[in-house]
Amino acid sequence: MLRTYQLSASLDAPFKFTMIHRKPTVLTTSEEALDSELLAPEPAERISRRDFALRNLGLLTAAVLVQGNEETSHLSLTRHIVRIPGLSGPLRVVQLSDLHRSWCVSESFIAQIVAQANALRPDLFLLTGDFVTRSSGYADSCMRHLADLRAPMGRYAVLGNHDYWCDHNTGAPVIAAHLADIGIVLLTNRSVRLGHNLRLVGVDDGHAGNPNLPLAFERVEQEEGVITITHNPMLFPLLSHYPCVTLAGHTHGGQVNIPLITDAIVGGNTRFMRGWYREPNAPGRLYVSRGLGTVHVPLRINSAPEIALFDLIPA
Ligand SMILES: [Fe+2]
Repeated sequence: MLRTYQLSASLDAPFKFTMIHRKPTVLTTSEEALDSELLAPEPAERISRRDFALRNLGLLTAAVLVQGNEETSHLSLTRHIVRIPGLSGPLRVVQLSDLHRSWCVSESFIAQIVAQANALRPDLFLLTGDFVTRSSGYADSCMRHLADLRAPMGRYAVLGNHDYWCDHNTGAPVIAAHLADIGIVLLTNRSVRLGHNLRLVGVDDGHAGNPNLPLAFERVEQEEGVITITHNPMLFPLLSHYPCVTLAGHTHGGQVNIPLITDAIVGGNTRFMRGWYREPNAPGRLYVSRGLGTVHVPLRINSAPEIALFDLIPA
């Protein structure tokens, strides 16, 4: 009974309580008050030059971040015609580097890369390391798409520092096993002889691996055309003494490539950031790809992800 009573009371009461206790609304109608409102804006509405600059800097930063995030998925193709002494016929090679499958590089992006790369109809695919970031758990979703790469002369790879570093520095054998499972041949300090008198040399990562150049070049014969793959271009001062073209990655072209600033900051780690290089008085040449994925943040600025196409022709 008590509950029923309270319910009926609450249905009737609100109207009465509102009428009795509501404070009257005070409307200001004086001209003086109106004028003062118009002439004296609220102090909060005043923006100092510093605040104005900070607000615009914030907007600019947000715009750059949005643009930089979009750039991570804007695939670019670079094409290079390269003369190789010793090569007996033309060959088309596609280099894919630094896929970095991870929380910030999606599986669908890997699939898109593979589709675009296959459309170039290369004779040979060369993969220059950093397949995942942090965890080999990402390898499955990376490799299931790399398995679809098609090239009549094969698919070859080297590992990158992140392949070594994943799983708290124990992941390299896992990545190597995944590559073997899909038929991609890992060249760790060794070479293979391919068609058109081409010798392909793979050198282990200079940073996290155990590079051994004499072992890697052991079987190279003088009359052969030679392409070398390695992840980190830091080895080029040594590799440049070999008469070969080296393909590397690792730098992501700076990833956030702001002219002068990026080279000044990141350039302390390498002077081989992106593109072609030669050393004085040495026969070797180096190409550094900007790679495809990102590390740390899903952001690229002025350094679009790159599929590199090399049309090799006899010198
Ligand atoms: Fe990388």
